[in-house]
Amino acid sequence: MANLLLEINNLSVAYGDIRALMDVSMEVYEGEIVALVGSNGAGKSTLLKTAAGLLRPQAGQIWFDGHDISHMSTKHRVDRGIVLVPEGRRLFQTLTVLENLKLGAYLPRARANYAESLERVFDLFPVLKERANGKAGLLSGGEQQMLAIGRAVMAHPKLVMIDEASLGLSPILTRRIFDLIVALNQQGTTVLMVEQNIHMALNVCHRAYVMKTGHIVLSGTGEELLANVDVRKAYVGERGSKL
Ligand SMILES: Nc1ncnc2c1ncn2[C@@H]1O[C@H](COP(=O)(O)OP(=O)(O)OP(=O)(O)O)[C@@H](O)[C@H]1O
Ligand SMILES: [Mg+2]
Repeated sequence: MANLLLEINNLSVAYGDIRALMDVSMEVYEGEIVALVGSNGAGKSTLLKTAAGLLRPQAGQIWFDGHDISHMSTKHRVDRGIVLVPEGRRLFQTLTVLENLKLGAYLPRARANYAESLERVFDLFPVLKERANGKAGLLSGGEQQMLAIGRAVMAHPKLVMIDEASLGLSPILTRRIFDLIVALNQQGTTVLMVEQNIHMALNVCHRAYVMKTGHIVLSGTGEELLANVDVRKAYVGERGSKL
């Protein structure tokens, strides 16, 4: 069995009175692509943000690579190898592509691997090499998503968490981004992805968790969930949702 890389134990998170996660537990093993799917407001982004250290849990623990990181700053988590590609990409629009990539490698461990990481990013996303000195804000939506993922790769991560990579992209570009995520994974990076495009996500992931209103309601391999009647009814365009 592969190493347990991320372990979330009985996590509860709230925004004031709004309880966003209730007693959520999940695992990601080294080498996996794990998808986190579920309806709007289910708590998917909250889970990734809490794992990244952007939100404080009310209860529960987060273990990463054998360490309890529950109370660690985001910066220290990134330096340990857990990196978030946030929803909406959050690029520095007026900086160049290369400047954005450099910012992904500002911590010591990443800086030590800078040249190798940059080569890896340019190899995965050749368009970023072509546009290296152009402003990030002038890239297309798909290219901006590649840059956001590329910036995370510059941090030399063990685990990349990607929130809605396909948001606003055409089906063709979505396919391409998914192929690139698979390529990244095949190079040895573990991936936890939140996706609206459930059919495609279940097709590429090794395992998935289905969330609903702050809880995990189902988990299994991508194949198992694709074959699951309730998942098909709720998310893959068949009628009569139970989830
Ligand atoms: N900053 C916030 N302040 C208050 N409530 C919030 C905030 N962010 C999220 N919530 C609430 O927490 C719950 C979970 O939200 P979250 O963004 O994690 O869901 P999600 O599964 O990512 O949804 P989506 O698919 O729409 O991105 C929702 O009820 C949402 O309204
Ligand atoms: Mg979200």
